Amino acid sequence: MRSPIVAGNWKMHGTRAENARLIEELLSRYPDQSAAECLVCPPFVYLQEVGRLLRDTPIGLGAQDVCAEAQGAFTGEVSAAMLKDVGCEHVIVGHSERRWVYHESDQLVARKFAAAQAKSLAPILCVGEQLSDREAGRTEEVVARQLDAVLSLCGVGALESGVIAYEPVWAIGTGHSATAEQAQQVHAFIRERIAARDAKIARAARILYGGSVKAGNAAELFAQPDVDGGLIGGASLKAEEFLAILAAAGTR
Ligand code: 13P
Repeated sequence: MRSPIVAGNWKMHGTRAENARLIEELLSRYPDQSAAECLVCPPFVYLQEVGRLLRDTPIGLGAQDVCAEAQGAFTGEVSAAMLKDVGCEHVIVGHSERRWVYHESDQLVARKFAAAQAKSLAPILCVGEQLSDREAGRTEEVVARQLDAVLSLCGVGALESGVIAYEPVWAIGTGHSATAEQAQQVHAFIRERIAARDAKIARAARILYGGSVKAGNAAELFAQPDVDGGLIGGASLKAEEFLAILAAAGTR
């Protein structure tokens, strides 16, 4: 059985004081036992401090992006080794805001995935279609292309420690989540596509859903057989809401 993951993507939100308050609230109400893994992904500048607050707690630390290069003259970039050095275990790659706002290509995202794994950081690979793709019936084509870029560069074995997050762009930050059926359909498609290369890895791979997940819809989404937790944006900034989502994943 795959153990679920609930990851909070804080995006470009928070201050030192707000982060400290959020972590304190999360820890004070954190369940004694959670069947789901939990992690938060603060902005780069806060990673070290949030990591310190999370030391020896059940909540893990991830970053929101990573440079595809190992080191060197890349002004403004942050390497996988640096993320590891400040205590990250995970890193999001290919978030739709990186793909669509900053024009990151499938190939660049695949190189970031490889760069993370080379330093033993577990990448969370985001894939997902835009509304126009869905309306044109191209959801599977887009998701397959994004997934295949990583499979081609890194091999299917790379998914053994990696995590995939299906985040339909039209559901992100809109308040309109995919329905549980829509999510399940794409998750099953992703798993089948991995299974075509390696059935065992496909069975073990964790596929998270992201896009307007809230306490109110989490249980239904997580009840789907191929939905192994969630990547949470807005709701991860509210302790009570985030913990309710975590609880929904734990009872799956
Ligand atoms: P929301 O939960 O705010 O829709 O964001 C989802 C997301 O992009 C997580 O990475």
